[in-house]
Amino acid sequence: MFAIAIMLGNNYSFELEPYTAAPPRSRVKRFRRSSGPHSETGFVDYKYPNLRALLQGSRCSRTTMLFSAALAALAVLPAFVAGRQIPVVEGVLGGVATLPRKSGPQTLVADASDASSKPTPGKLRVTENSGVCETTPGVYQASGYGDLTSDESVWFWFFEARNNPDTAPLVTWFNGGPGSSSMIGLFQENGPCRINNDSSSVSLNPNSWNEFANVLYIDQPIGVGFSYGSTTTGTSEEAASDVWKFLQIWFQDSRFSKFQGRDFGIWTESYGGHYGPTFAAYFLQQNAAITKGSVTGIPINLKYLGVGDGLTDPLSQYPGYITYSQSNPYHPLVSSSVWSRANSSYYRSGGCESQIQACYNGGSNSVCSQAQNFCNNNILSPLAGNWDVYYVLAQNPDPYPPDLTNYLTSRAVTSKIGSQSTWQETNDDVYDNFADTGDWMRNSAPNLETVINSGVRTVVYDGDADFILNFNGVENMVNNLQTDFSSQFKQQQFANFTVNGQSAGVFKNAGTFSYVRFFGAGHEVPAYQWGTLSRGEAALQMFTQIMSNQSLTPT
Ligand SMILES: *[C@@H]1O[C@H](CO)[C@@H](O)[C@H](O)[C@H]1NC(C)=O
Ligand SMILES: *[C@@H]1O[C@H](CO)[C@@H](O)[C@H](O)[C@H]1NC(C)=O
Ligand SMILES: *[C@@H]1O[C@H](CO)[C@@H](O)[C@H](O)[C@H]1NC(C)=O
Ligand SMILES: *[C@@H]1O[C@H](CO)[C@@H](O)[C@H](O)[C@H]1NC(C)=O
Repeated sequence: MFAIAIMLGNNYSFELEPYTAAPPRSRVKRFRRSSGPHSETGFVDYKYPNLRALLQGSRCSRTTMLFSAALAALAVLPAFVAGRQIPVVEGVLGGVATLPRKSGPQTLVADASDASSKPTPGKLRVTENSGVCETTPGVYQASGYGDLTSDESVWFWFFEARNNPDTAPLVTWFNGGPGSSSMIGLFQENGPCRINNDSSSVSLNPNSWNEFANVLYIDQPIGVGFSYGSTTTGTSEEAASDVWKFLQIWFQDSRFSKFQGRDFGIWTESYGGHYGPTFAAYFLQQNAAITKGSVTGIPINLKYLGVGDGLTDPLSQYPGYITYSQSNPYHPLVSSSVWSRANSSYYRSGGCESQIQACYNGGSNSVCSQAQNFCNNNILSPLAGNWDVYYVLAQNPDPYPPDLTNYLTSRAVTSKIGSQSTWQETNDDVYDNFADTGDWMRNSAPNLETVINSGVRTVVYDGDADFILNFNGVENMVNNLQTDFSSQFKQQQFANFTVNGQSAGVFKNAGTFSYVRFFGAGHEVPAYQWGTLSRGEAALQMFTQIMSNQSLTPT
């Protein structure tokens, strides 16, 4: 057991013991905070954030025996606690690890007794029609690996369109993190099935995006989700290059070569605000190099980009936390004193704003990484209060969408789909690699502008109940874009995005660019419903319209 001391926050006191039983382990997280020369490391129960156990500390209280009991069971509590798509590091959402890493880059070793577990560089290993998830009769599916090298295997799961697969466009889906699995999107958001509340079964999703498109879910970078191998990727550019290599292998496989040249879309979310624009710009650059003859490969016929609740331009987006926390469609998230402290941390000299500026202004990895640490410690983390950062209508943690771990690690599933490594929602080594380079705080808006101006139809969307990539920040990012359509965009008024007669959000179109803010949706927009619409129905209307090369249109 630790040499711990329990401390009650100065501005917080319990009339009675907060616990009648030890708090669940999932609610207790590790933190490290420093200000000036002083630093603290310990544990906090995030339902009672001011009740902390310090690893070495000051005041003790006997009312906290049960908290101690919970900590006793946490003798090897990891520095990381699963925080859905974006990890909580040492108590800070999106934080940067300050404690030494437990291990170097980890390589997950697959079960060598199985022939299909042997990587074949430059080839796919495929399991067809596993019967898992997509149970619509006659709809083809395949899952497996594209092996970039003998030590770099990219997991994919492909579903043909339920309608007209031979002419329907091809879409790739990427979740964020960085380090989080695209199985989140597949099973919680827009895939052919959704995880049920029991976390062990699924139901067919009538609003799956493969109603309209062929959809390819990719776990990347290497090490994420079911992917495995050397976890060396630490920037969005490096990730783009690996995804391009994977797609070359995928298009060359005889099962999928018919999709070469098909209209192609990138759809992504969250950290995908970096991935989407960076991947898209890189694919266009590779296409140009193929045309010129300086690169050999299959061109990717990129026509569409969709970015949901994305982190693209931190300098434009971080003030959004301050706005949203105090004033959003639902309720203030924190007290005015917490809010004022964060406001000052953002604007004061040397604060978050000037640190992001320093990062943008040719900042080194460590400058950008420090900006991430400072801003997430002082702005992002505190401003959510006790609300779920992904859905502010629920207290933290919202049990919805249900966790996938039980389902995706069960033999019943893994024995059918050809997976070779133990699924985790987020790979901490990958996250750490990105945190080390400060990639989080770099600006992906220039890539987004390039992609929009090159004629790729683009939609940016956001759920109005999401704090972590809230619409205030995202709309500020969109308003600051400088594209061929920007002046037209700014002149537009928002109009209702009506879906089957119900207003499910507000939108603007300008040229081939669109933006939509969905009412009542959290971070994972297609996981939510509005009015009497079914879950994901409004998101599917957006997806179908954009992928039909149309502007957003009320129905
Ligand atoms: C936020 O901080 C800035 C800079 O310190 C200050 O000018 C501004 O008044 C603050 N906003 C509020 C509403 O307190
Ligand atoms: C699943 O759980 C959520 C709360 O997390 C609840 O709102 C919803 O009604 C539940 N669904 C079913 C089918 O029980
Ligand atoms: C959208 O519809 C709602 C009613 O559902 C209405 O109150 C609102 O004014 C409309 N907004 C716009 C921009 O038309
Ligand atoms: C999509 O529409 C735009 C403008 O409306 C047009 O320029 C472009 O060629 C179309 N793309 C496809 C793939 O049809």
